[in-house]
Amino acid sequence: MRIPRHLAIIMDGNGRWAEQRQLPRIAGHHRGVETVQTVVKECRGLGITCLTLYAFSSENWGRPEEEVNALMGLLAEYLRSELATMMSRGIRLKVIGEANRLPAEARRILEETVASTRDNHDMILNLALSYGARNELVRAARHLANEALAGRLAPEDIDDAAVAGALDTAGLPDPDLLIRTSGEMRISNFLLWQLAYTELYFSEVLWPDFDERELRRALNEYGRRQRRFGLIGEQVRTDDCCPGEGHH
Ligand code: FPP
Repeated sequence: MRIPRHLAIIMDGNGRWAEQRQLPRIAGHHRGVETVQTVVKECRGLGITCLTLYAFSSENWGRPEEEVNALMGLLAEYLRSELATMMSRGIRLKVIGEANRLPAEARRILEETVASTRDNHDMILNLALSYGARNELVRAARHLANEALAGRLAPEDIDDAAVAGALDTAGLPDPDLLIRTSGEMRISNFLLWQLAYTELYFSEVLWPDFDERELRRALNEYGRRQRRFGLIGEQVRTDDCCPGEGHH
């Protein structure tokens, strides 16, 4: 099976899963965390080197306070319970987004987990928290403008690499595959720059029901796709090569 280096997932459908069972939405998020544990384990086993999960968007702050608090609590609980596994499986935690907006307790445990796992090298678990791609691009633009104002960067030196390096994902490869669950076919302000050449896969399954089988189904489909990066078939015989810029 051809394995993506970087897999990104929009975990969607927790609320609907709960509503279908007349349960509170948070029960869906609870089950969603179990799916996170399954998928992280499976990705690590498959040799995926970077897994990015959209755990909380900038827009999610607008949900009822009770749901926001419950999600923050689940995040803290998840990190606490997974540290031992991350250490034994060589998983390094990273965060993208405005993590400084998170409540103090969640922020503290996030920082601790990032610090504790920083020398792990087998897989990066990259959590998008308080993340929105336009916000990320705005922050990157401000950073580059400040660098230019300070005389450290000439405007004509701002190229693809400079922009990529100013994003929260600096240093990570672009995602090879994006999975979105629950049948919605939108990008929803996720990794807008980084998804330029990413293969997109939409699963009908709600996130709490997503499992190893569904993941393998997505990876099998990915294996059948030919990525051309704007070139023609004969030019891209080796898989996942990334020819230079400027293709469409
Ligand atoms: C989408 O379902 C899911 C979220 C907004 C949150 C995802 C969070 C988790 C799986 C748990 C916390 C994360 C970690 C990493 C521990 P939805 O509520 O938008 O579902 P709906 O569209 O059916 O309402």
